[in-house]
Amino acid sequence: MKILIINGPNLNLLGKREPEKYGNRTFENYFEELKSTFESIQLSYYQSNNEGSLIDKIHEVGFDYDGIVLNAGAYTHTSIALADAIAAVPTPVVEVHISNVHAREEFRHHSHLSRVCKGVIVGFGLDSYSLALQYFKNKIIK
Ligand code: DQA
Repeated sequence: MKILIINGPNLNLLGKREPEKYGNRTFENYFEELKSTFESIQLSYYQSNNEGSLIDKIHEVGFDYDGIVLNAGAYTHTSIALADAIAAVPTPVVEVHISNVHAREEFRHHSHLSRVCKGVIVGFGLDSYSLALQYFKNKIIK
């Protein structure tokens, strides 16, 4: 089973960026833990700050991979183009957020992506990613 984790804008700064909201850990460090926890999954990771690059990556893997775990950062709240890319591919996408966007500013309450995603996991810190991977892992077992 091949799963790609995609992080969008500013998530390259995890560990340094607003640690009270996003924690002290780099994603690269957390990704190593994910790989050892989910040994049965072929996991890869991609990050970009550019909307078009995120769309290109969804097109690239979205006809081949078994799943995508996507934290689109602020593009979640703005990008119809990203929603169209998710809708265009057969690979299921799980939307994740580290912080509880519903407990934050009103503009973060709406996602253009949720409607076209398989499901949404919000507010569990970095565990949001492992909860999404658990969903895909359960699909192997079933
Ligand atoms: C985020 C929430 C978004 O509102 C914000 O723009 C981010 C991170 C999260 O993981 O909590 O960049 O997606």
